[in-house]
Amino acid sequence: MEKLVIEGGNPLHGTIRVSGSKNAALPILLASLLCSETVTLTNVPNLRDITTSFKLLELLGCKIERAEGTAKITPVTLQPEAPYELVKTMRASVLCLGPLLARLGQADVALPGGCAIGARPVDLHLKALERMGAEFSLDSGYIRGRCGKLQGAKISFEFPTVGGTENLLMAASLAKGTTVLENAAREPEIVDLAKFLIAMGAKISGHGTSVITIEGVEKLHACEYKIMPDRIEAGTFIIAAAMTDGELLVEDCPTESLEGLLVVLQEMGVYTEEKETGLLVRRATNLLYATDITTQPFPGFPTDMQAQVMSLMCCATGAGSIDEKIFENRFMHVQELVRLGADIKLKGSTAIIRGVTHLTGAPVMASDLRASASLILAGLVAHGETEVERIYHLDRGYEAIEKKLSAVGAKIARVSS
Ligand code: UD1
Repeated sequence: MEKLVIEGGNPLHGTIRVSGSKNAALPILLASLLCSETVTLTNVPNLRDITTSFKLLELLGCKIERAEGTAKITPVTLQPEAPYELVKTMRASVLCLGPLLARLGQADVALPGGCAIGARPVDLHLKALERMGAEFSLDSGYIRGRCGKLQGAKISFEFPTVGGTENLLMAASLAKGTTVLENAAREPEIVDLAKFLIAMGAKISGHGTSVITIEGVEKLHACEYKIMPDRIEAGTFIIAAAMTDGELLVEDCPTESLEGLLVVLQEMGVYTEEKETGLLVRRATNLLYATDITTQPFPGFPTDMQAQVMSLMCCATGAGSIDEKIFENRFMHVQELVRLGADIKLKGSTAIIRGVTHLTGAPVMASDLRASASLILAGLVAHGETEVERIYHLDRGYEAIEKKLSAVGAKIARVSS
């Protein structure tokens, strides 16, 4: 097993580039199942979840050619089963439900099961697909979906689920007639998926708003598409610059999709300026200030930045709070930050954070993807050495993070434990 060893106390300076977005790439890769011709994707990040998606696509009957940052995917002979061995390592595998039902009228997808950040059911995906004519049963740990040609429908989500909206966008693209998704998720990754589907010939409007209209078409065609940059990776670098009291130019930064985060960071004393090639970040003043945050669906403050901003708040002046409204049980990083000397109290879904004069390095354990990032951030400013174990979580979603951070002045190394 590998771990990261970080020697804290080095301000980051220089230029750091953002990779392609994991959460946009995953649905886009699976959406290529909808096309019978070859799609070419660029800016594909090199991550474990992406490798898992390629394995899944191959099992489902696609031919894949991969080169640095590029993938050509050709669905050849599709088959309907997504096995547990893959689904259990990547919950987003459930996004093949919509495309498989649309193409084959059949999908047998292992039920994802519990995950570290809460129960995360897929009931809203299934209810919405049922409105389009699919029928589901649960058998031997598998969701078994069957349908004739999917029918357009008016669907109103109880909650703007990201994955649910994506599954429905994909299914509706090849359905008969018009589908209207109300209370749809508005995340930038949904807009990216919609743009990819449109590039393949889908008829979609309203993406980026809470009402999306999809007119089904007979078939989708080959296209070339560049995946958007990763807003969560960008946000993590922005926080790293402010926390270490350095200055970074975050290249390829999807600034327009970071509003909910940037508003909060500005309140906390972070200065950002748009430059031609990216976003320049440093502290506005010597001190950082605590604030109160509630995680919300886009365009609100993203739950995927909650752990990282908590680390930032540990270094701020005064007390602030974070109310986690999207996932239950997404505070597993709290006890690890406390091991580094943070002052954090949990009360239900709210964490109260009091800034401390300094954090002190210690061995810590990563519990999920974004928690891993928060521990690295804390390690970058802690006095002495921090060891972050279980970094396989990190490798699911951050491309070569230790290399990128080393290149701008961090003392961080990957070692075998
Ligand atoms: C996606 C992102 C994840 C991000 C999350 C919220 C990907 C691969 N993952 O996850 O990084 O943290 O959006 O921005 O893009 N829910 C139900 N029933 C459902 C579906 C969801 O109860 O059928 C609940 C979930 O348990 C969770 C909340 O709704 O509490 C949000 O889930 P959702 O928006 O669907 O997130 P994901 O697509 O799983």
